[in-house]
Amino acid sequence: MPRLVVISNRVALPDEDGGSAPGGLAVAVAATMQGRDGLWFGWSGQVSDEPPPPTTIDCGHMKYVLTDVRPQDFQEYYNGFANRVLWPILHYRVDLAEFSEADFDGYRRVNEFFAERLGPLLEADDILWVHDYHLIPLALALRARGHANRIGFFLHIPMPPPDFLTTLPHHAELVGALTEYNLIGFQTDNDAGNFARYLTSVVGAATPDGRHYHLGHQHFRVGVFPVGVDTDGFRRLAEASAHTACAAELAESLVGRALMVGVDRLDYSKGIVNRLDAYELFLEKYPGWHGHITYLQIAPGCRQDIPEYLEIDAAVNAKVGHINGRFGAVSWVPVRYVSRNHRREDIAMVMRMARIGLVTPLRDGMNLVAKEFVAAQDPADPGVLILSQFAGAAAELGAALIVNPHDRGAMADAIHTALDMPLDERRARHQEMYAVLEANHIRYWGQSFIEALTRPGRALNWLSNRIDTR
Ligand code: F6P
Repeated sequence: MPRLVVISNRVALPDEDGGSAPGGLAVAVAATMQGRDGLWFGWSGQVSDEPPPPTTIDCGHMKYVLTDVRPQDFQEYYNGFANRVLWPILHYRVDLAEFSEADFDGYRRVNEFFAERLGPLLEADDILWVHDYHLIPLALALRARGHANRIGFFLHIPMPPPDFLTTLPHHAELVGALTEYNLIGFQTDNDAGNFARYLTSVVGAATPDGRHYHLGHQHFRVGVFPVGVDTDGFRRLAEASAHTACAAELAESLVGRALMVGVDRLDYSKGIVNRLDAYELFLEKYPGWHGHITYLQIAPGCRQDIPEYLEIDAAVNAKVGHINGRFGAVSWVPVRYVSRNHRREDIAMVMRMARIGLVTPLRDGMNLVAKEFVAAQDPADPGVLILSQFAGAAAELGAALIVNPHDRGAMADAIHTALDMPLDERRARHQEMYAVLEANHIRYWGQSFIEALTRPGRALNWLSNRIDTR
């Protein structure tokens, strides 16, 4: 079996327990690497004025290779172009994009730098899989250095319609760089469809079947590979963690109140303020629930050098304070807001204890929290998932209570419906969603992508109806 070389900005090193550090991309990629020879290349998380040679960590069949980047590169590539231009535009927030030529240069430069450091480590038959928006031009930089390997790309975040993508200065250059990949994967049909429309209507690519594309001298394919979760693994983690001291403490602190939980990175795309607005309206409309519900929002901060992230932090803090001041009592705090990072087992435990999982991003590539919430439930007495129609996960989890996160009235009513939902209905909805998650277990995601990348002519697994097999 040829070696799999994964390249992503963040690399999840195995922790002391032999597991993997949490995080959407990290968990999914780590599952793909299991049981095969591989190399995972990416940023070390450190900056240095003169980056030393990459650090290599050998771990059984896996090798991790990490490089520092220069402070200016980090600023322009990560804080600048990746997270202040691509992130907002791809999340349909054109209003927040702050483009500068200097940042775009920095983005190109880091991709060249990654290619320069990765190149000497590559073997001719390696399969390369590049992840996410930080590294779109990487294949171009590798091809320019003579690497003819099969290279796939997967976008973990949304792909908006052409009207959004074309607001990006140099969009044609960036999409041109994407066409250097043999296979480009998206989370949902909607994302792939948006990209297909860009290809055919903006840059005039030709396609015989909506899967193979030709643009200039490039031939590439587009497919849909929704990321799954380790359904049974996460369920077991939740089961086990329900019996810990931490679980007992949480249960005691709730004194019988219904627990509603939200778990998100503190990001404007997650819709946390809209969600708090809806909760405020719920408390206004349904006073019978005062003192009988606790909303626990866990939202660790991230990307703190970027002004929009400081603003969302301030907005969430203000809103939480406002709700607690308005409705709280000496013996009841309506919202508990925690910005500390939590261990995976504690998150699983909180999810299992919750009557409601509130996952209402304004836009999200997939949202694995929604899937993990379903996996964590006790099938005999499951909680209810309230899910945004704009999360990629909504395409699979139609048995959730699907809401428009911009409609605070509908969200407030959904909270009430969830709290009142009879056991039979909760079980039926949970069973349906769990079956979907089992069918799209994380182990199939990497397999189907790699098969599509390496053996385009072969029949694939159950995902074959979604991707090109010809
Ligand atoms: O959603 C894309 C993603 O790469 C996730 O996989 C991950 O949880 C998050 O962004 C990490 O962001 P950052 O690397 O900026 O902390």
